[in-house]
Amino acid sequence: MASISLRSTDPTQSRVDAIVIAVAKRTKGKGVKALAPGDQVAAAFGRRFAPTLSTLGFRGKAGEVARLPSAGLVKSPLVIAVGVGDEGTVTTESLRRAAGVGIRAVHNAASAAFALPTADGADVQAVCEGIRLGQYAFTPYRTDNDDEDPVSTLVVLTDLARTTAAQQAVATAETVADAVNLTRDWVNTPASDMTPERLADAVESLEIPERVKVTVWDRDRLEKEGCGGTLGVGQGSANPPRMVRLTYKPKNPAMHLALVGKGITYDSGGLSLKTHAGLMTMKCDMAGAAAAISATYAIASMGLPIQVTCFAALAENMVSGTAIRPGDVLTIRGGTTVEVHNTDAEGRLVMADALVLATEAKPDLIIDVATLTGACIVALGRRTAGVLSNDDALRDAIPAAAMRAGEPMWPLPIPEEMKAKVRSSTIADLRQHNPEPVGGTLYAATFLREFVGEHRWAHLDIAGPAFNDSDPYGYTPKGGTGAAVRTLIRLAQEFADEG
Ligand code: BES
Ligand code: MN
Ligand code: ZN
Repeated sequence: MASISLRSTDPTQSRVDAIVIAVAKRTKGKGVKALAPGDQVAAAFGRRFAPTLSTLGFRGKAGEVARLPSAGLVKSPLVIAVGVGDEGTVTTESLRRAAGVGIRAVHNAASAAFALPTADGADVQAVCEGIRLGQYAFTPYRTDNDDEDPVSTLVVLTDLARTTAAQQAVATAETVADAVNLTRDWVNTPASDMTPERLADAVESLEIPERVKVTVWDRDRLEKEGCGGTLGVGQGSANPPRMVRLTYKPKNPAMHLALVGKGITYDSGGLSLKTHAGLMTMKCDMAGAAAAISATYAIASMGLPIQVTCFAALAENMVSGTAIRPGDVLTIRGGTTVEVHNTDAEGRLVMADALVLATEAKPDLIIDVATLTGACIVALGRRTAGVLSNDDALRDAIPAAAMRAGEPMWPLPIPEEMKAKVRSSTIADLRQHNPEPVGGTLYAATFLREFVGEHRWAHLDIAGPAFNDSDPYGYTPKGGTGAAVRTLIRLAQEFADEG
C-alpha cells in the first residue's frame, strides 16, 4: 500500500484526482456546512455549494457521500463530500469513519487528498487509519482482474503537517492499520487454505520484529505438554492442531501482558453440527488468534516497553469418526478434567489450554480474545464486543480504552451463580456447556475463569464484530474486520504511558 504523506497545502490548490472533505449537518438553521480545511473548497464553489448537495439528496448524515465535479473551481477535478453528522459532534472515531467512507468513494484515481478537520495528532492518526482500513480489499482469489488499481498517492492536508506529533501519528497509524489488515487477510482466507499448520506457517514467515521469538508446537508436542483441550477439539480433523507462542521482551518493560487467542480455523460444530447458515462464516473462528498475534507484532514493531507473551490455540473443529463426542472427558493442561456436552462449544476447550500456558508465564495481566459465543451477538449485536473479567475495574477500563481506539465494547458480568453450574459435572471437574439456554456468554467466561488462577484476566468475546456479513460501512469492509486489534495495541500504549 502507498504510504500517506502530510501537507499543509490549501485544499483548493491540491493537484490530486480527488479531494475528500467533511460536511456536517448544521445545528442552527437548515442545510449543511463544510468543515475546515474543506470549507475552503466549499467557498470556491460559492453559494452553489450547499444547495447543490441538497439537490443531490445529501444531508450531512454520517456515512453519506456525494461526488461533485469541480469544473475548475478548485485544482482537484473531483470533490468528495462525506457526511459527519451534526456539527459540533465530530469525534476522532467519526473522522476515522469519514476517511474510510471517503477512500471507498474514490475510483480509478491515482491520487487523493483528505481535507478533514484535524485538531491534534490523534485526529491525524485516525484519518490515516480510516484511509488505510477503508482502502482494504481482499483479492487473492479473484482472477477476473477487473479490480481497480488502488490509489497510489495519498495525502492528508493538515496545518499540523510539519509537527513531529503528526508525523509520528502517520507512522503509528500505518503500523496499526497493517496489523488490522493482516488480521482481516487471515480471517478472509478460506479454511481450506488456513489450516492450523498454514496459519502457524504464516506467523513464522512474516517479518518477525526485533526481540520477538516464535515457537510452534505440533500434535506430538501438544501431547507431551498435556494440552488435551486443543488436541480433543482437533482430533476429528485431517488438519492437526498447533499451539503458537510469541514472546516479545523489550528492555525494562513497564509490565508483562499475556494475550491469548481462539484459533479455530474452521468451526463445523463437530458432532453437534451447525446448520448451513451457521457454517457459512465459520472460517472467521480464528479471528481472536489472528488479532492477538497481529497486535503482538504491532506492539513489538512499535518498540513499546511492554513485555508480551501471546498464545494462539489453533485447531479445526470437524465431524469424523475420530471426532470428540458429547459425553467424552478431556484433560486440560494442568490436569483439570472437563466433561464435553456440546462439541460446538469448542472454543473454551482450546482456550483453557492456552490460558493455563499464559498463567505459567506469570504475567501481570491476561487478556484473551475469542469469537466465543453466539449468545454475545444476541446480547450486544453484531458490532459490539463483550468484556468479562475477574477484576471489576479492568472490566470497565477495557471498554473505555476500546472507545478511545474507536472500537465498541461493553462490559458483561460473571454472576456468582454461574460458578456452581460450571462445577456441576457428574463425572469430571467441570461441565463444558451451560445446562440452560440462557446466559451463554457469561457461562463461557465463568468456564474460562477456572483456568486463570489468581491472575488478573479479561475476556473479549468478539463473536459479533469479528466478521461483517452485511455491507461495508465507514472503514469496515465485508468479511473479516480485524476487531480488537486496535484496542489491544491501544491498551499496550496506555500501559506504557502509565509506566
Ligand atoms: N464460534 C462459535 C461462536 C460464533 C457464533 C462466532 C457466530 C461467530 C459467529 C462458537 O464456537 C459456538 O459455536 N458457540 C455456540 C456455543 C453453544 C453450543 C454453547 C453458540 O454460540 O451457539
Ligand atoms: Mn462452535
Ligand atoms: Zn467456535
